[in-house]
Amino acid sequence: MGGAARLSAPRALVLWAALGAAAHIGPAPDPEDWWSYKDNLQGNFVPGPPFWGLVNAAWSLCAVGKRQSPVDVELKRALYDPFLPPLRLSTGGEKLRGTLYNTGRHVSFLPAPRPVVNVSGGPLLYSHRLSELRLLFGARDGAGSEHQINHQGFSAEVQLIHFNQELYGNLSAASRSPNGLAILSFFVNVAGSSNSFLSRLLSRDTITRISYKNDAYFLQDLSLELLFPESFGFVTYQGSLSTPPCSETVTWILIDRALNITSLQMHSLRLLSQNPPSQIFQSLSGNGRPLQPLAHRALRGNRDPRHPERRCRGPNYRLHVDGAPHGR
Ligand SMILES: *[C@@H]1O[C@H](CO)[C@@H](O)[C@H](O)[C@H]1NC(C)=O
Ligand SMILES: *[C@@H]1O[C@H](CO)[C@@H](O)[C@H](O)[C@H]1NC(C)=O
Ligand SMILES: *[C@@H]1O[C@H](CO)[C@@H](O)[C@H](O)[C@H]1NC(C)=O
Repeated sequence: MGGAARLSAPRALVLWAALGAAAHIGPAPDPEDWWSYKDNLQGNFVPGPPFWGLVNAAWSLCAVGKRQSPVDVELKRALYDPFLPPLRLSTGGEKLRGTLYNTGRHVSFLPAPRPVVNVSGGPLLYSHRLSELRLLFGARDGAGSEHQINHQGFSAEVQLIHFNQELYGNLSAASRSPNGLAILSFFVNVAGSSNSFLSRLLSRDTITRISYKNDAYFLQDLSLELLFPESFGFVTYQGSLSTPPCSETVTWILIDRALNITSLQMHSLRLLSQNPPSQIFQSLSGNGRPLQPLAHRALRGNRDPRHPERRCRGPNYRLHVDGAPHGR
């Protein structure tokens, strides 16, 4: 933790040596795509998290930013804000469809252009449009989430990435602009039961279609509201993208009740490769950015930390769904 911001002299030497070596072998890398989670892929140097901010001037926030993500959230530090409204999801009453995609870094679900899915409420002053669902997971249970709660990691983290569609026309413009992005994070445990939305993505029939990098599989008839727990609270803070360019334009909303998937589903995730079939198997597990310092940033939540054991019921602790035929 905190190590990402500073680079010791020996590590910098390693970097320059590696850059020099890379200049002599193979084609020049695409600078916008030249990063990884693990410094070494297939023997060629590809910069991992400590180097992101050094290899591309447009990514300098990855090294020097002070509002970076992910972070460890100590729930007792969260300020209770009883005026935070509940989260609201708008689907226009339509089912979600889109493409499940192995990007070589993550499992991503990219929604089709229609229907538009909006999220608002909570700390969000604008309506944000869903542009990606991203799934990060670990090589062993209890690790693999990017964020932590009270110093504890989870087996996986689902991130719903949205951009502010009231102010900006697309994700890339929004990601560079104030109040541009909203990311909802769900933590995932391995248990005997499974969240019904995640079961659709992780069924054997589906997940085996994206075994290798660039594999994609079209899915439809999804009900995103089923991803959300029946009742939940959330903690919010101002942070950044956890991938280059690490733009500090993200309102993070961490859902405080974990979802479940089965150990079989977890196992099938770990069998996904970040390489094409022609290259050696490297699991997609463990792809996440290390923790960044929270520093003096505020954590705001809709649960009273003085009564953490109290089960929160009532409309503030439920998802509000607009346009759903059987509203929840
Ligand atoms: C999503 O938000 C946009 C802009 O605020 C709005 O025009 C659109 O009708 C919303 N869609 C749904 C399904 O609520
Ligand atoms: C995103 O929006 C910006 C500014 O509104 C525009 O210049 C850019 O071409 C758009 N990018 C894409 C990929 O549509
Ligand atoms: C997840 O599983 C645990 C233990 O089996 C259970 O107590 C909890 O209620 C489950 N959570 C959800 C959201 O179903």
